[in-house]
Formats: sequence, C-alpha cells, structure tokens
Amino acid sequence: MVADSGTKFEAAAEKPSASSKNSTSTLNNLVPKPSGPHRLYEEKGITYGDWRDELARDGFVVVKGAVPKERAEKYADDILTYLEEFAGGLGFKRDDPSTVKESNLPIINEKGMIIGYAVAHESFTWEMRQEPGVLEAFSKVYDTPDLIVSFDNVNVAFPNRTDLPPNTPWPHQDQDPKRPGFRGMQGIINILPNGDNDGGLIVCKGAHLISEEFHEHFQNDPSPIYAWTSEWYGFKDEGLAWLKEKGCEWIKVNAEPGDLILWDSRTPHYNLSPTGTTPRFCGYACYMPAAEASQQDLLRKKMAFETTQCTTHFPNAIHVGGVPILRDGKPCPYNTAKPRQMPQLNEIGMKLTGIPYIQAV
Ligand SMILES: [Fe+2]
Repeated sequence: MVADSGTKFEAAAEKPSASSKNSTSTLNNLVPKPSGPHRLYEEKGITYGDWRDELARDGFVVVKGAVPKERAEKYADDILTYLEEFAGGLGFKRDDPSTVKESNLPIINEKGMIIGYAVAHESFTWEMRQEPGVLEAFSKVYDTPDLIVSFDNVNVAFPNRTDLPPNTPWPHQDQDPKRPGFRGMQGIINILPNGDNDGGLIVCKGAHLISEEFHEHFQNDPSPIYAWTSEWYGFKDEGLAWLKEKGCEWIKVNAEPGDLILWDSRTPHYNLSPTGTTPRFCGYACYMPAAEASQQDLLRKKMAFETTQCTTHFPNAIHVGGVPILRDGKPCPYNTAKPRQMPQLNEIGMKLTGIPYIQAV
C-alpha cells in the first residue's frame, strides 16, 4: 500500500525571510490543524515510497537536498562572517586555520555547540528554520502544515582543536524513557560536506523500534547516568551491549550541504568531532504540531522568543534558557544574550514561534 502524506505545505513556494518586519497583524487566535491520519508510524504496513520508509525502519534518514545547495553555501558564509565579526572581530579569519582558537571565537564546547549569545535567534538560524524543504519534510512526518519549531542552537566544530577537552562519546536519547512511543523528530540542517572524517551525527540504527523493550529491561537500574531533565537518557555499557546483542549497529551519518538529517528522539545518538580538514557546520531544528502544545507552552515559548532565549530541541519550550557561558572560568563578557539584530519574521516564521496560536481570553 502506498500513501502520500496528504499534506501540502502551503508555504513551500515562498522563500525564507528574516528581513521583513514581524508579521503579527493578521495572525491572531489561529487554530492549528492537528496531525492527520498519515502521521509517521500511524498506518501499519504502509509503504510511502520515499524517505519516510527508511526513517520509520531505521530511526533516522538523510532527506537529500532539503535546502538548495546555493542557500547552504550562503549559510556557511553567514556563519563564517558571524565568527569573523563576533564581538567586533576577535581575530578569527576563515582562511587562516591558526586563528581557530577560543580567544578569537565565541565559546564553542567540545561537542561543537555554540549555546550562548542568542545564536538561536540570529538571522541565519531563523532563515534555516524557515527553509521550505525543511518544513515540507517535517509536515510529512506529522501530516500537518501547522508546526512550531525549537529555538535551538548551531554546531560549529572545527577539526583537530587542541584547546578543547576531548569530545567523549555520550550515547543518549532525548526522550523520557518512561514515556514510550513516538513523541518527537529531531533535525539537523547540514551546511558543509560531511563525510566519514568530518564528524557529525552517529546513531544506533533501528534501536527506536525496541526502545520500549529496552527501557522495560533497564528500568530498575540502581545507578543510571545523571540526567538534568527527565527528557534525556544516557546509555551505559550494559545497555550498549544489549543493543548490540539485538543486532543494532552504530552508523555515522554522512550528508552533503543542504541535506536534512532526521532522527526519532528514541534513537540513541551522539556526535563525533571532525578529524580531517573540513569543519562541521549545522543547525539544529526540531518541529512538532502546534496543536500538541498547550496554551501554557505557547505562552512560555512567546516569552522565550521575545527575550531571545534558546530552548532545547523540544519545540514546546519545556526548557527555556541555556547554560552559563564561561570564558576563562568567568561569565563570557561577550554574551549579551541578544543576536546582532532582533529577529524580523514573516508569517511563516511567526507561525513557527507558536505565538499566533495563543488564544486571547
Ligand atoms: Fe541529543
């Protein structure tokens, strides 16, 4: 049986924009369309005839060319310009690898993440989130065009940095092990060529399908890995051995500029640092149906947007705000908590904030 999603993303013909004034005048009290019957996993025994088949089977997939290559190249240039101009220019130059050091850059952790500086609300971050091909993919996953997006950060991992601690593996899932079932799809918008030696996402193929069985088996572990939120679970060696015994193997996911990597939040994963000559640049973007966020969630998300705070990957803003950004052990003086300019969103972007779905009382 073959089925299309039935959802046509209406904005697909429009280009992303972060240049016009925030569009709020006609966007009030909208009622979002909930997921339709073609939501991923809802139809048993179905064949979609596209990337959704692989995603449902393996727990991850690369959606090829979700972002046109020239726009991926523009985002790479945007990020390099951002780094060169950061805090008025600290010394980083894109053509000089010797300038890749902490004193010349925003704080980037050993996993490649920039978390502070309201980078989640920079113009390029918002433009990536509004890419029609990305929205189209998530609208197919959830079978609704009415989505909200996480205010998540970017990954800017330069190869072979010697001024950072080693990036040790931290296999985990970003979903509460006590709440099984499909609850979230995570996304990476890949910006630079990302091959075997270029770091990036590594996933445990197919483990999402036995996630419930796994967590039943390990539910009474007396010494689980510390989790700062219930929506996270760290896999210990015993768990990894269990998954291996079940036949699940770890796959490093390669991607080209403009590819969108999707993975089910139950799929164990972590990231690798680049070891070749190419940096890894990508944006994290997760979406969920706006209809699945509560009014309280949306109000919290509005606050996060208006104060340019980041969230975790959960689009309903269950956690707002990042971790302290330290430079030489002290709060980074360049962390103004504001982007270079406040986000200026069109209707597509505003809907993704969730604000238009807040019902006036
Ligand atoms: Fe994760």
